[in-house]
Amino acid sequence: MPSRTRASKTSVRNSDGGTAVDHVAAGDLIRRGSADALTLAELEALDRNDPLRTLRDAFMLTDALVYLDGVSLGPLPGETPARLQEVAARQWGQDLIRSWTVHDWIGAPQRVGDKIGRLIGAGPGEVVVSDSTSVNLFKLLAAACQLQPRRSVILSERGDFPNDLYVAQGLQSLSDGRTRLRLVSADQIEAAIDEHVAVVLLTHVHYKSAAVHDMARITSRAHAQGALTLWDLSHSAGAVRVDLNAAQADFAVGCGYKYLNGGPGAPGYLFVAQRHQASTASPISGWLGHARPFDFIDDYVPAPGIGRFLAGSHPILGITALEVGVDLMLRADAQCRIAKSRALSGLFVALVESRCAGQGLELASPREPEARGSHVAFRHAQGYAVMQALIARGVIGDFRAPDLMRFGFAPLYNRYADCWHAAETLRDVLQTAAWDRPEFKQRLAVT
Ligand SMILES: Cc1ncc(COP(=O)(O)O)c(C=O)c1O
Repeated sequence: MPSRTRASKTSVRNSDGGTAVDHVAAGDLIRRGSADALTLAELEALDRNDPLRTLRDAFMLTDALVYLDGVSLGPLPGETPARLQEVAARQWGQDLIRSWTVHDWIGAPQRVGDKIGRLIGAGPGEVVVSDSTSVNLFKLLAAACQLQPRRSVILSERGDFPNDLYVAQGLQSLSDGRTRLRLVSADQIEAAIDEHVAVVLLTHVHYKSAAVHDMARITSRAHAQGALTLWDLSHSAGAVRVDLNAAQADFAVGCGYKYLNGGPGAPGYLFVAQRHQASTASPISGWLGHARPFDFIDDYVPAPGIGRFLAGSHPILGITALEVGVDLMLRADAQCRIAKSRALSGLFVALVESRCAGQGLELASPREPEARGSHVAFRHAQGYAVMQALIARGVIGDFRAPDLMRFGFAPLYNRYADCWHAAETLRDVLQTAAWDRPEFKQRLAVT
């Protein structure tokens, strides 16, 4: 962005006669230009003309904070407390047990699942909301392995999100040696898919680096070798383009509390491609996955579709909050959202590298926006203390051991100006060594 006229070059006419930022153009200009020449006023102009700008007002965020941690916990949508109040006080409080049918509590996992499906390229009846991501992962990993009785290997990436590897290890120890987890580096995944691999388990966007796997290519390679794929979309849904059916993906899971803004501990979701539903079974054959739970018969008969992957009673309050977040996400044009994510994270990289040169920072995420999810990680030897100092100044990201500072950019509520303020604050914290205080080095239970 080399001149002061640049912001207007990234704008196009709106149907209402105003101008709207073209985030693709903004991203290109940011990538090509010099971040040194950028002014805050230019960035604020981009924010004023952002077609998504009104969505920020749907969240309870104040200008006193620069919130860059939607990659961990999305902020509270303004409508959520009232919806929770309605469901708790009126539906639960007054209509009581009748609410399971009168307010369709019973259908909530499928209803919200179908909405999430629209964000991740799944068809109706292919996604349900249930349990936590970890539990869903266990269910689908077991189901995928059952579909492959002559194959023993779960293939995953060394250094992938540890939780997912732990869940696979749990399944391995239950399997009496029939299943084993094999880990290889990211660039070895495709070559390692052979005739022993039952399922390839990967997080689509890496939780630390934000590197994105090519879902279509890896799935195609897996299928060519007779293997299945299971994708963890926790850092993808709502932030990067995901098209499960275009990629012919087999299974997927994801979190509700990150970019989907469903609140702390929000239920997760799972996807099973239509073609696998009749032949797969959940290892947790609970009553709400039964074909006729209210027949109360002794023997388990799986429900005909995706419903067989439900287990116990649904967390209605959790699903209520999640639905508000998902509805908000569906209000944003998908292409605009993704282009804005890339432009924001690209701007942050450019600003940090121009402001903080020589301060011991190293980019730990792909530089190419297409190869990256919606967060950016910078390595620093004192990353934990630096992040604590940033948080004390109202710039909230998080830290992933041993040395990564992680900053998430959520297109629904983050602004170009947030990138500016975060980079300037980081510059000051580093230049003045403001991080070098005992209280910033005290490790908290959650980082
Ligand atoms: C990639 C990924 N998968 C799974 C999980 C675990 O989700 P949960 O704790 O809701 O089971 C997380 C949590 O941050 C995650 O980042």
